[in-house]
Amino acid sequence: MPPILITGAGRRVGLYLADTLRADGYPILAHHRSPSAALEQRAGHDFVLLSADLETEQGALRLAEAVCRHTTSLRAIIHNASVFETTQRNPHEAAAQAQRFFGLHVLAPYLLNEALRPLLKKCPEVPADILHITDISVHRPEPCYDLYCASKAGLANLTRSYAQRFAPHIKVNMIAPGPILFPDGFPGEERNRILARTPLAMEGGPQAIYLAVRYLLDNAFVTGTELRVDGGQSIVP
Ligand SMILES: NC(=O)c1ccc[n+]([C@@H]2O[C@H](COP(=O)([O-])OP(=O)(O)OC[C@H]3O[C@@H](n4cnc5c(N)ncnc54)[C@H](OP(=O)(O)O)[C@@H]3O)[C@@H](O)[C@H]2O)c1
Repeated sequence: MPPILITGAGRRVGLYLADTLRADGYPILAHHRSPSAALEQRAGHDFVLLSADLETEQGALRLAEAVCRHTTSLRAIIHNASVFETTQRNPHEAAAQAQRFFGLHVLAPYLLNEALRPLLKKCPEVPADILHITDISVHRPEPCYDLYCASKAGLANLTRSYAQRFAPHIKVNMIAPGPILFPDGFPGEERNRILARTPLAMEGGPQAIYLAVRYLLDNAFVTGTELRVDGGQSIVP
């Protein structure tokens, strides 16, 4: 079986996906930015570590080259790497943030999808998959996270272009998470406010994302779609 490339696999949801998909029998190409003891422990022939800063064009292209050195085909790419920050009010700082958000959430997936398309096309299991991890806030942006939300909306839009361009050999879908795992140190008051407007009133946990990934990998007749994994948040007016 060809490997699955997961970006941002060093911790939290990305690490959970790497572990569970490896347990399902897929070799893993685990991309990370910073070295981590958790990843070092797992490194081996079926769990290859690839490092790159994906906020820059050079970083994304270097990652694509590294993938091509390791394998001639891919089962899937999961674009999970992300940076989540409130927008700075200083316009110069906000402009620098916008470059990082759009570099990581839009340009890096674009460059990787283009560069690695030939490897996905060589997957013996047809169609292969590209999964974009977006955010439910694409539909109802949080004003203080406006640039983050706009960049994730860009990724959502790319999904629909790629689903048309890459068919029939490659399916391209997105998973839109709601509150899955709050960041460390996330303010308690804010957390309660978010859970109060989430019908299922809890954090989903990374398994909820894994189950969505599994569904999309296993279903050969779904492309260009969004799977909302948000505890029902998006149906609340
Ligand atoms: N957690 C939630 O509740 C939630 C809600 C909505 C959407 N999502 C989405 O679900 C996905 C997983 O969420 P998460 O909370 O596990 O994500 P996360 O902890 O914020 O970050 C995921 C990974 O992105 C990597 N990353 C950040 N900047 C990078 C860069 N410049 N270059 C390369 N890698 C970089 C990080 O690597 P390092 O560790 O090396 O810095 C980290 O491992 C993300 O796409 C997120 O936007 C999550």
